[in-house]
Amino acid sequence: MCGIIGYIGKKQALPLLMDGLRHESYRGYDSSGVVVFDHDNVTLVKATGKLEKLEEKIQGMDIPGKIGLGHTRWATHGGVTEENAHPHADCKQNIFVIHNGIIENYQQIKDELQAKGHRFISETDTEVLSHLVEHFFTGNLEEAVGKALAQVRGAYGIAVIAKQDPDKIVVARLSAPIVISVNNDGGFIASDPGTILSHSNKMIFLDDGEIAIVTGEGCKITDLKNNAKDKVATEVEWTLQEAEKTGYAHFMLKEIMEHPASLENVLRGRLLMDEGGVKLGGLESIQDKLRDINRIQIIACGGSAYAAQVGEYMLEEYGGIPTEVEIGSEFRYRKPVFDGHTLSIFISQSGETADTLAALKEVKERKGLSLGIVNVVGSTLARQMDAGVYTHSGPEIAVASTKTFTAQVAALALVSLFLGRQRQLSGPAGRDVVGKLSELPAQVREILGRRNSIEEIARRYHQYPNFCVIGRKYNYGIALEGALKLKEVAYVHGEGMRGGELKHGSLALINNEFPTLAIVPTDSVYEKNISTIQQIRARGGKVIAIATEGNREIQKIADDVIYIPENLEMLTPVLATIPLHLFAYYVAVARGCEIDKPRNLAKSVTVE
Ligand code: M6R
Repeated sequence: MCGIIGYIGKKQALPLLMDGLRHESYRGYDSSGVVVFDHDNVTLVKATGKLEKLEEKIQGMDIPGKIGLGHTRWATHGGVTEENAHPHADCKQNIFVIHNGIIENYQQIKDELQAKGHRFISETDTEVLSHLVEHFFTGNLEEAVGKALAQVRGAYGIAVIAKQDPDKIVVARLSAPIVISVNNDGGFIASDPGTILSHSNKMIFLDDGEIAIVTGEGCKITDLKNNAKDKVATEVEWTLQEAEKTGYAHFMLKEIMEHPASLENVLRGRLLMDEGGVKLGGLESIQDKLRDINRIQIIACGGSAYAAQVGEYMLEEYGGIPTEVEIGSEFRYRKPVFDGHTLSIFISQSGETADTLAALKEVKERKGLSLGIVNVVGSTLARQMDAGVYTHSGPEIAVASTKTFTAQVAALALVSLFLGRQRQLSGPAGRDVVGKLSELPAQVREILGRRNSIEEIARRYHQYPNFCVIGRKYNYGIALEGALKLKEVAYVHGEGMRGGELKHGSLALINNEFPTLAIVPTDSVYEKNISTIQQIRARGGKVIAIATEGNREIQKIADDVIYIPENLEMLTPVLATIPLHLFAYYVAVARGCEIDKPRNLAKSVTVE
C-alpha cells in the first residue's frame, strides 16, 4: 500500500525522489519522507499528511547528494506521525530502510533487539528491519540485508542504503512489487513502473525471494542464498502522457474519458469477425485444458469482483459453464471445493492485491488451472498465472478504478466467447457478439459526449447522504460498482442491490430523502425492473433511470433519465457503468471531496 522510490547515480537525488513520490503518492498518502546521502552527510526529512507537506518542509533546504530513498505511507502499524513515517534508521543513523508490506513477526524481533540494546523510536513493523540489518552489518550491506530477511515473516518490498557501504541501494521483495531500471543517469527503483517510466521503459521486475544490488551503473540480482539470477528487462508499453493529468481537473475524470480508448485496447487484434470468435494469444498454451473444464470460479476483490459478477452471467450464458464469484479475502478461509476440471479466473487491475494473490497461492498449491485478467504487465499476478489476458488499459492513477473496470468486463466477454466457441456457441451467434463488442468504444464516446447533462443531474442530487443503486442479472455487478464509487470518491452511502431484493427488506429505507439510481436497459428483465421502480415511486422515492435510448415510457415514471445506446444485453453493463462513474465523480466534485486520493484508501491493496 505504500510507495517507494530510490535513486543512485550521477544526478542530484532529491528532485528525482520528489518527482517519483508525486507519482507514488496514490499508493498511500498519510505521510512521506526522504533520505539523501552526500558522503558522510545524511539528510532525513519526514512529514505527516499529503506530499505537499513534505514539499513545504524541504523548500529552501539545501539537500545535496546523489543517492537517496523516498517513501509515501499508508499506515498499518502505528498512527500517522513523523516518527512512524519512513525512511527508518538504525541506532547509529547508518542504515535507512523504506518498506511496503507487513512484517508479521515484528514484535518478537523487536523484543529481542531491544533486549540487545537497540533503541526504537517508532511503532512500526518496518523499524525492526533497519535494526535487524544493523545487527548483521559488518560492512557489506547486501549480506546484512540477506541475513535480516531470513529472520522475518510477512510481505515486503524494501530498499536499504547504508552510509558505511554507500555505493549501492539494496532492494528485495516478497509479495510486494519492486521494479528496477538502470540508464545512463543511474539506477532507479520503485514500487510502480509508472514512477520511473520517464527515465526508461526497460524495467526489471523483481521476483519473490530476490535481492538486487543497484548501483549507478547496473544491477546484480541474487536469491536470498546469494545465488546469482539472470534476469532480462521487460519493455513497458505505457506512455508518459498516460500517466499525466494532461489538463484534466482530476485523474478520475481523465480516466473516465479514457474508457473508449481502454476498450479499444482490450479488443484490439482480438476480434475475429468472419469466424465469430476471438483470438486470445495468452490462452493458446492452455486451450486444450480449457476444453476440459466444467466449472469456473472467478476470484477478485473490490471493483474487480464487481466486474466478475458480470462475468458470471456471461460465462454461463455464452461460455456454457457454471460459474461462481469468490471474494479474494474470503477464498482460502472457506475450504473451497474445486478440482482439476475447475478454471480459476483471477481479475486484478494492479496484479498486486494481497487477498487475490493469497487466493492464487491456494489454487496453485492445489494444482488448479489459473487464468488472469490483469492490467499491469509484469505484476505478480500476471507472472504467476498459467495463462492470461491483459486489459492493456494503460496506467490508472486515481484510486477509484474506472477505465480498467470496463476493460475487465470486456475481457470477460472475450473469454466467454472463446470458451463458448469451444463448446455450444454457433458461428452466427459468435459473429453477433463480435460485432456488438466492436460497437462499444463508439457507444461509450457517445455517452461521454453527454456528460454535461449527467453533471447537471449530479449537482441536483449531490446533497443526499444515501443512494440506492439497483440492477438485475448482468447489471447487478454494475449496481454494486456504482454504489462503491459513490462511497469511495463522494463519501456518501451507496447501497448496491439486486433490484428484485429491494422488496425483501431494504425498501423500508426508501422515502423522498433516499434516491435510487436504477439500471433499466431494455432487456430480458426490463419489465421486472419497471415493477421495482413502481415500488420505489409508491414510497415517494426519487428515481434516476439509466435506460436504453428510444425508451420514452421510462420518462413517465422516473424523475431523471440518462440514456445509453442499445446493445446486446450482456454488453449493457459496459454502457451502464459510464453514467454511474460520471455521476459519482460529479457528486464528489459538488461535495468538494478529495477525488483522486480518497481518505483512508490506497490504490493497490498489498496487505491482507
Ligand atoms: O488492483 P485490483 O483490481 O486487484 O484492486 C481491487 C480493489 O482493491 C479495487 O478494485 C478497489 O475496490 C478500487 N479502488 C475500486 O474503485
